[in-house]
Amino acid sequence: MIKFILYSSKHSFDLSKEELNGLISEARYNNNKNHVTGILLYLNNAFLQYIEGPEKNIDTLYNKILKDDRHHSLSILESGLKPARKYEEWTMLFKKVSLQESDQLLQSLKPSKKDVTIDDLSPEDIKLFFDQFEL
Ligand SMILES: Cc1cc2nc3c(=O)[nH]c(=O)nc-3n(C[C@H](O)[C@H](O)[C@H](O)COP(=O)(O)O)c2cc1C
Repeated sequence: MIKFILYSSKHSFDLSKEELNGLISEARYNNNKNHVTGILLYLNNAFLQYIEGPEKNIDTLYNKILKDDRHHSLSILESGLKPARKYEEWTMLFKKVSLQESDQLLQSLKPSKKDVTIDDLSPEDIKLFFDQFEL
């Protein structure tokens, strides 16, 4: 079985292009060695990441990610075991979501509210938000 974790977190600071590239190359290099695949979304003020792989490797990785001071306030939205991978071909698919794109999506999730941010969403709504980016 494959273990997966979907979590959200807050940036500790705005990462420069170089810092972001560094993070992604490090993640891809390690994930390739550790049979981990997944997707990382970089939003205006938050990360959303889905990681999947052998249970031991995912637990080890999540513990490392948890201690990483480039972000904070991690919150697991969903985790468990499943028979097959979703991101078979991606050591870490990366997408920077523009403010406009995320605003549009947030507004469609909460049509009755004004100026919605990801902080206004429940874990279930954040999952729905994430699902829009799934492969
Ligand atoms: C948002 C975010 C996502 C990350 N994703 C991964 C990942 O998918 N794989 C990975 O190996 N490291 C990832 N990292 C980096 C880890 O936190 C850690 O720095 C890295 O695994 C190296 O740890 P080590 O030097 O103890 O081996 C991520 C960090 C952040 C802030």
